[in-house]
Amino acid sequence: MKLILPVVFLVLVAFALPAQEGHGVTTADIQRGGQIFLTSCATCHGPNGDLVSGVNLASNRFRRAQTDSDLMDLVKKGIPSTPMPPGNYSDEQAFAIVAYLRSLANARPGANGAGSGLAGDPARGKSIVEGKGQCGSCHRIGNTGGFAGPDLTAIGTARSRASLEAKLLDPNADIRESNRPVRAVAKDGKVIVGTLLNYDNYSIQMLGSDGKLRALQIDKLKEYEVMKTSPMPSYKDKLSAQEIADVAGYLSTLRGQTQ
Ligand code: HEC
Ligand code: HEC
Repeated sequence: MKLILPVVFLVLVAFALPAQEGHGVTTADIQRGGQIFLTSCATCHGPNGDLVSGVNLASNRFRRAQTDSDLMDLVKKGIPSTPMPPGNYSDEQAFAIVAYLRSLANARPGANGAGSGLAGDPARGKSIVEGKGQCGSCHRIGNTGGFAGPDLTAIGTARSRASLEAKLLDPNADIRESNRPVRAVAKDGKVIVGTLLNYDNYSIQMLGSDGKLRALQIDKLKEYEVMKTSPMPSYKDKLSAQEIADVAGYLSTLRGQTQ
């Protein structure tokens, strides 16, 4: 009996390793994979995974891989003699990337933050952004638009289509660190709103909604506040699900080239 125990143990370990794939995919895996994807893969494959011709990473069909472990292998080793580079990813990272690729294809309304799954028409999205969405009153795209919100000229390289849909539905849920809205009131009562750039014990630096950079001395202010709610309105009741998908589809094509 005594001899059997270590053997059982070894067998368990042997099964435990490949079984990592079988551990349930969590939303956190998908998000981690999405972050890696946007910084390390989207440069070539595009934020929607469809920019390399003949390859659609959002289709769940791969010419060179079938199973998740094929894909993890491919992501780590790259494809020799093609531009697809090897990556120095841990098993966990590769697992997260693959979870994200699968989630792109499995997009269902509301599932795992995967978005509505509706195909958005970028041309229709553009006319909504420039027309009834009035996004230009706060955002610049290329050389036109306002300064109350961040420049969207390259937003397609920073956010996935699903995260763009989510942003339009609930702006407060996901404000990026670089876009924290700030509201300051001077001693004379004048209100200054904008985006926080930097701060220390004595001053705050901000980009005002008029597009001007400002450094405000804290002892000259009556109060100031980094806001937890976004000045951006929700479009949940203003646009249909299809229109939201169209706008997200358009934004995801914005990759900085209009500048
Ligand atoms: C420098 C550009 C580049 C980067 C960066 C890049 N890829 Fe690729 N990838 C390619 C190209 C080009 C191909 C097509 C190669 C071929 O089959 O000729 C490809 C192919 C693939 C395939 C195989 C598709 C199929 O149908 O079999 C997968 C999967 C893939 N890439 C995933 C990724 C992931 C995930 C990342 C980031 C971790 C990534 N790629 C980063 C250029 C890139
Ligand atoms: C009243 C001003 C205002 C309007 C109108 C507005 N936004 Fe915004 N938007 C903001 C502000 C301020 C932020 C930065 C804070 C935040 O992330 O919520 C922002 C953030 C965003 C972000 C996230 C940017 C990032 O870098 O993460 C996207 C995407 C966006 N807006 C798209 C749109 C679109 C598309 C429209 C029109 C349908 C629109 N916004 C209308 C003010 C506005």
